[in-house]
Amino acid sequence: MGDPRLLRVSRPVERFSTPALRELVRDMVDTMRRLNGAGLAAPQIGVDLQVVIFEVANNPRYPDAGKVPFTVLVNPELTLLSDELEEGWEGCLSVPGMRGLVPRCTRLRYQGFNAEGEPIDRTVDGFHARVVQHEVDHLRGILYPMRIRDLRNFGFTEVLFPDVGRVDE
Ligand code: NI
Repeated sequence: MGDPRLLRVSRPVERFSTPALRELVRDMVDTMRRLNGAGLAAPQIGVDLQVVIFEVANNPRYPDAGKVPFTVLVNPELTLLSDELEEGWEGCLSVPGMRGLVPRCTRLRYQGFNAEGEPIDRTVDGFHARVVQHEVDHLRGILYPMRIRDLRNFGFTEVLFPDVGRVDE
């Protein structure tokens, strides 16, 4: 946080199935898994393209989260399907060691493509919907602390959640 590349609006990917796009995705997957992230967006590694990835399966940083299938999502479009907002704790690999309580839409549809240009169209809710909104925000230059309504609900992970144990951040 503080790096101006995180505040840019990302450009759409114009060509799929290219070596450059596959290498970008490989770099992003390596970074996300090494840091136990639930997701990652290209701007977080300095690339201003509309590419996000996410995956939640027994993640030590989010022990209570439901499973989210590994997904590469390019040029995403979101359609919010609920007026209801739900507060939930989020962290971000670009804001290491911290958590904040963030309101998100509870249900949405996302459309886009994988790295090979095959279409993706899903309707999701719960933590899956939260992760998608968090990652797509990165493509618009928005970091989750900007969405916290009450900054008293923002702090160090080890203070807020001492039972989660050591986290790799
Ligand atoms: Ni993030």
